[in-house]
Amino acid sequence: MDTFKTHCYSIVFLVVCSAVLSLAYPQVRRHQFVIQETPVKRLCKTQNSITVNGMFPGPTLEVTNGDTIEVEVVNKARYNATIHWHGVRQMRTGWADGPEFVTQCPIRPGGSYTYRFTIQGQEGTLWWHAHSSWLRATVYGALIIRPREGEAYPFPKPKRETAIILGEWWNANPIDVVREATRTGAAPNNSDAYTINGQPGDLYNCSSQDTTIVPIDVGETNLLRVINAALNQPLFFTVANHKLAVIGADASYTKPFTTSVIMLGPGQTTDVLIKGDQPPARYYMAARAYQSAQNAAFDNTTTTAILEYKSAPCPAKKGINAPKPIMPPLPAYNDTNTVTAFSQSFRSLRKAQVPTDIDENLFFTVGLGLNNCPPNFPSSRCQGPNGTRFTASMNNVSFVFPQTVSLLQAHQQGIPGVFTTDFPGTPPLQFDYTGNVSRSLYQPIPGTKLYKLKYGSRVQIVLQDTSIVTPENHPIHLHGYDFYIVAEGFGNFDPKTDTSKFNLIDPPLRNTASVPVNGWAVIRFVADNPGVWIMHCHLDVHITWGLAMAFLVENGVGELQTLQAPPPDLPVC
Ligand code: C2O
Repeated sequence: MDTFKTHCYSIVFLVVCSAVLSLAYPQVRRHQFVIQETPVKRLCKTQNSITVNGMFPGPTLEVTNGDTIEVEVVNKARYNATIHWHGVRQMRTGWADGPEFVTQCPIRPGGSYTYRFTIQGQEGTLWWHAHSSWLRATVYGALIIRPREGEAYPFPKPKRETAIILGEWWNANPIDVVREATRTGAAPNNSDAYTINGQPGDLYNCSSQDTTIVPIDVGETNLLRVINAALNQPLFFTVANHKLAVIGADASYTKPFTTSVIMLGPGQTTDVLIKGDQPPARYYMAARAYQSAQNAAFDNTTTTAILEYKSAPCPAKKGINAPKPIMPPLPAYNDTNTVTAFSQSFRSLRKAQVPTDIDENLFFTVGLGLNNCPPNFPSSRCQGPNGTRFTASMNNVSFVFPQTVSLLQAHQQGIPGVFTTDFPGTPPLQFDYTGNVSRSLYQPIPGTKLYKLKYGSRVQIVLQDTSIVTPENHPIHLHGYDFYIVAEGFGNFDPKTDTSKFNLIDPPLRNTASVPVNGWAVIRFVADNPGVWIMHCHLDVHITWGLAMAFLVENGVGELQTLQAPPPDLPVC
C-alpha cells in the first residue's frame, strides 16, 4: 500500500533508515482514498458501486499503536461522503471522526479532506467506513493495529493473520434503497446477500468462482480478525469442525475463551485464534443472520468462505471434481440463548480501571416507533404498519441531524440555533419498557438534543431496549470512547436487584454494545475526550429513523484537555 516511511534524505540511506525507523518509532502513515464509482459484479449483476480506490472491500490499513494516520480523502463520486474510523478514540481530534453533520460537513463531490489522527493505546482490530447516508454498504475496510515494537501479543504469535470482513450486498444501489424507504416510510428492502471479504460465496448464484479462500495448515494458528460491516444485520459466524478462541474485541484484549460460534452486531469486531488441528481439507466458514426482531422480514441467506489447508491433497482444492467443503451447523436465526452465552463470556484480559464514583447516572431507552401519517402526506408515503411511518428514538427523542453546519463546528464557534443541550438523562415518562406498551407512546419527538458532560465526569448509562413496535437487539455505538459493559440482562433494568450483578473487576471494554433484545446493558466510561460524540444504533436503518443522540463533552483545563483547532481544510457546508 501507499505507506510513506519516515523521510530520509538520501536514497542510499532510505532502505536502512526506513527499515530501522519502521521498527523503532511511531510513524506517520499516509494514504490517499479516492471515493469513486466502480463497476462491481456480484450475484450475476453489475452495480456501479461507490468504492475507495476501486477496491471492494476497501484497502486495509495496517498500523502500529502510537502511529499517526493521515488519509487524504478525495471525493470523485456523485454523493456527499465522509469516512469514520470506527473505534479510534480520536483524543482531542474530533474533527477527524467523520460522522456527517456531527463532526464535519460532508466532503462534496469534487472536494477533499485529510483526516489526521493518532492511535493511542489501542491494539487489535478496528475498521473504517463511510458515515454518510448508506454509502458504507460498499465503502469500508479493516484497520489493524499491532503492538508497538518491543511489545507482543498477549498470546503466542500466530503464523498467519486474516481479516474477515462481513458485509451486506444489494442487487441495487444502496443509496436508492434508503431513499425509497425514506419516501415510503416503510422498512427498506432487505439485502440480497451477505459477503465475506466482499464475496457472497458458493451458496449464491454466479459466486463460486470468487469465493474467499482463507489459508491455514496443519499445526498452524491463524488469527482471524472478524468485522461485522453489514448495514443492518447482526450475524453469527462459525467455522466447520474448528473451535474459535476469542482473544479480543473492538481493539481491546479479552481473557481467552473458546466457542464454536460468535455473534457480532454491525460495528463490532472479534479477534479469534483458529488452529489447524483437523485433517487437511477444506472447511466452510459461514455467516448468517441473528434476527431478534420477531415478525420482521430479513435476509435469511448464508455467506461462506473456505478455510483451506495448504497441505490438503490437490484434488481436495479447486477443480471440478473437488469434494464439497464441510458445512458447519449454524444457530437458529432467533437463537438468543447462544448470543447471551457468548456475550456473557467476555472479560477484559487484565483488571480494569472501571469508574466507580459515578457523576452522571443516565438511563436511555432505545427502540423503534411509528409516526402517524402527516395530514399533507399521500398514503404512498405512509407504508409503515397500519399506514404509519417508521421512526426510532432514544429517551423519546428522534435524532435530527443539522443540515447547514456540523454540531462540532456549531459548538466550537458558538453558532446558536443548531442544537440544544436538553437531551433528557432519564426517560421523560417511565413505563413498562419491555411490556405491552400503549400505542400512545409510539410517537417520539424529533429534535437535535445533546447531553452535556463536564470534562472528566464518570458516566454510567443504562441502555434499555423497548418493545415499542418490536423488541430487538440493538448494537449501540459510542464515538470517541471505549466503555466498559458492566452488566446486561433481560426485562426492565432494576437498580435494586441488578446493581449487585455489576462486574467492576474485569468487564469487557468495547465501542459497540449489543443491547439484548427486550433487555438492557449498563456501560461506564470517563468523559476524558472533549468534543461532540454521537451515540447511535449501528443498524443503519435505525440511524435513518433517528436512533441516536450526541454528547457534548466540555474542555478541561489546559491544552491536553482541550479540543484541537479544526484543520484548515475542514469541509464547509
Ligand atoms: Cu461505525 Cu457512527 O459508526
